[in-house]
Amino acid sequence: MALAARTTHSILSVFFLLSLLATLAADAGSRCPRVPSMTAEHACTAVTGTRRMLSLCLRTLHAGDGAPVEVLVTRHAVAAVRGALESYAATVAAATSLLDAGEVAGDDEKAAVGDCMVGYGTARGAMARVAGELQVVDAGCGDDDRKAGEIKVGYMAGLRGMDGCRRSLMNYPASPLYERNLADRNETLLAALLCNLVVTAPLG
Ligand SMILES: *[C@@H]1O[C@H](CO)[C@@H](O)[C@H](O)[C@H]1NC(C)=O
Repeated sequence: MALAARTTHSILSVFFLLSLLATLAADAGSRCPRVPSMTAEHACTAVTGTRRMLSLCLRTLHAGDGAPVEVLVTRHAVAAVRGALESYAATVAAATSLLDAGEVAGDDEKAAVGDCMVGYGTARGAMARVAGELQVVDAGCGDDDRKAGEIKVGYMAGLRGMDGCRRSLMNYPASPLYERNLADRNETLLAALLCNLVVTAPLG
């Protein structure tokens, strides 16, 4: 009796183990075969074309902070999107304090700063959605072609928001916001380039 119970118990354990392994294997199989893993250094070298963008990329992804590890490129893209969102927030805060301190002279320039902020609002909403889509892909995708499309639409809207701000400030190149916007646009472009590693990775 005791022996029979033990045998049943071990058979159950084996079944349990096998089904667990099968589940794990299924997860591994459905896990976005298109999303490769890379070190931050590799991802940055792969997507950037200028020394300046390369160093922005390495800084944004905190390359060199520890031993290089390969992670899904979605993680790198998320880090860059978050970096861009933080920069937008800092620029919006800077614009607000310039306005509050009365350092934006003239109604035309105030209106220009307001228009620029509209671009930031667009970019913030779009890039926040991109971050959300990337998390979904990272967690095991599903319909990755549709996600890829949404990610592209999102970062293009982010770039348009940045360009909209620059056009608004075209007559005020001495404004500190003008320079900040150029830097924020570069961060948005970097995020877009890293997103492309996710959405155009060859089928593997
Ligand atoms: C943005 O990137 C370009 C190209 O790498 C660079 O020439 C430019 O100086 C950068 N601008 C800012 C404000 O970082």
